[in-house]
Amino acid sequence: MSSPPRIIQPPLVVVGSANADIYVEIDRLPKEGETLAANNGQTLPGGKGANQAACAARLNYPTYFIGQVGKDNFANLIRDSLQSSGVKLDYLGTVAGPTGHAIVMLQPGGNNSIIIVGGANVSWPRLDGGISRLNEKAQQLIRRAGAVILQREVPDSLNIEVAKIAKVSNVPVVLDAGGIDSPMPPELLKNVTIFSPNETELARLTGMPTDTTEEVLAAAAKVQLLGVQQVLVKLGEKGSILVNKDEPPIVQPAIMAPYVVDTTGAGDTFTAAYTVALIEKQPPAEALRFAAAAASICVRTKGAIPSMPDRRAVSQLLEEHPAKEMKKVIAKFIEQVNISGSDEAESPTKRSNVNSPKKVRFHDFEDEQKEKSILGQSVQPVSM
Ligand SMILES: Nc1ncnc2c1ncn2[C@@H]1O[C@H](COP(=O)(O)OP(=O)(O)O)[C@@H](O)[C@H]1O
Ligand SMILES: [Mg+2]
Repeated sequence: MSSPPRIIQPPLVVVGSANADIYVEIDRLPKEGETLAANNGQTLPGGKGANQAACAARLNYPTYFIGQVGKDNFANLIRDSLQSSGVKLDYLGTVAGPTGHAIVMLQPGGNNSIIIVGGANVSWPRLDGGISRLNEKAQQLIRRAGAVILQREVPDSLNIEVAKIAKVSNVPVVLDAGGIDSPMPPELLKNVTIFSPNETELARLTGMPTDTTEEVLAAAAKVQLLGVQQVLVKLGEKGSILVNKDEPPIVQPAIMAPYVVDTTGAGDTFTAAYTVALIEKQPPAEALRFAAAAASICVRTKGAIPSMPDRRAVSQLLEEHPAKEMKKVIAKFIEQVNISGSDEAESPTKRSNVNSPKKVRFHDFEDEQKEKSILGQSVQPVSM
């Protein structure tokens, strides 16, 4: 008897940062020359690249991480964490100097101060005196990937190199806008398939407000002028919007968690889960729902990597929130903001089939969710 054909999944490749995050809980910042006792301290693996790779691997998608650590014990922390999430580490390099790390000073009232040591994340020398920062094997991996995810915690020049290699091989590139907030190099955006900022990053990048649906769509349209086909905006507990050129935008409400413990890593989870669904050829609306479910689970547990769900947990949550229920909420939302209805001439977002939405604030939509939970759903809005 012949065995069924093996389906070969093209790997997901995450290129980016890996960090040790050193958390210290303090009542106040130390004064100059002062030694201060912290109330608590903990060191956890993190960095946006490592977070996203860990998330994709936990979702049981074959995932490689291209990154660098230094020669110290933080490297072991990162290695162990990625390995136990199932990430393939064949392309994790070791360079001289420290592993990237961050000292996160948690102060009462949520006033956090952070010091970052870029270390191995920012030391990507050009190889053999040439222009490339990636060896031939890593370049080949990118060429045969199902998709590549980038963020902005490694040098722009590395991201540009990766995005260009991917583009000529028709490999979709998802750029998460998180990381340093220096101006976005046009050469990077031009070579990206999906650009995914949160509302703050989108506002900073475009210099435009992003408080209402209309404003988000207008800002996303401005980014598209720079050569990106799709903009996937993450809006925290308000959900997300996918703006695709020449198509009406798709909105996805957040799948509200019954309790929120820590939103660290929600955006990384969302980006990674969306990309996994994209490679698996789920339609965009389904991929958004999948990502919202994964991120909703992430906010229920402390930390980034420790809070990322496996495939079963996501499937279970999606079963509790069937698409047809979500569709009702989305349909009502679209009706309210009139995303594809009116045709006011001056709208900055006016395009052939994406007409100007009314200026409706997102909290109107959140009220919808409240109404939904009152109607007997297990979803519950929470205050943060
Ligand atoms: N309180 C929450 N409850 C449920 N889901 C959430 C919550 N906060 C965020 N999410 C989900 O996580 C996604 C990403 O979060 P967001 O805060 O927008 O990203 P970032 O971490 O980059 O700022 C959101 O689009 C939403 O689906
Ligand atoms: Mg946020």
